[in-house]
Amino acid sequence: MSDRTGIFAGDDPFAIARSWLAEAEASEPNDPNAIALSTVDAQGMPNARMVLLKDIEDAAFVFYTNYTSAKAQEIEHGGKAAFVMHWKSLRRQIRVRGTVTREDGPQADAYYASRSLKSRLGAWASQQSQPLASRAALMAEVAKVTASHGPMPARPPFWGGFRIAPVEIEFWADGAFRLHDRFCWRREKISDPWSIKRLNP
Ligand SMILES: Cc1cc2nc3c(=O)[nH]c(=O)nc-3n(C[C@H](O)[C@H](O)[C@H](O)COP(=O)(O)O)c2cc1C
Repeated sequence: MSDRTGIFAGDDPFAIARSWLAEAEASEPNDPNAIALSTVDAQGMPNARMVLLKDIEDAAFVFYTNYTSAKAQEIEHGGKAAFVMHWKSLRRQIRVRGTVTREDGPQADAYYASRSLKSRLGAWASQQSQPLASRAALMAEVAKVTASHGPMPARPPFWGGFRIAPVEIEFWADGAFRLHDRFCWRREKISDPWSIKRLNP
């Protein structure tokens, strides 16, 4: 019989992730939806950076970024990514590994439109991950796109979402004397059913 109860109860890992994030929203000082996103470059060198998780869907995790950025190039080269989110206030983490596709349709348009005007213009102005001569050069670019795109800028074609469809999701919660609880949902392919296992800490 499974001893997966309490905060680990239920078989849907996306529901558990949503419930843990809701708890973190009440206890974290800021950015409870921050994830450390990991990719690998064309030479096999790993890379990591924080991004904000914007959606936990029925079967995927979605974040937004610039499609010409280093992370986007690394994702599109291999089609895979991993992330970890950790909440100090809850002493819990969630780890995810999966395959990645673009979200560059109406959902990306709607999320872009929900952002503040300054953020929408900032997305147009920033050639993310490219060298920048100075802060002044960036502000000049912001002024330029403000004049050219006006108060209702369309989503830039080079900016949108990525959707991570997991083959592995692990939930970890701190336990006394480093005897933590870990449960891992794993499947070979996205279309396979999950196999759920408790792991040694
Ligand atoms: C808390 C936090 C949240 C961030 N959220 C995002 C985000 O949602 N999208 C994004 O493109 N960059 C975000 N960034 C900036 C990235 O960490 C990174 O500097 C940038 O995306 C360039 O990464 P790259 O050169 O590996 O593509 C965030 C940074 C921090 C510290």
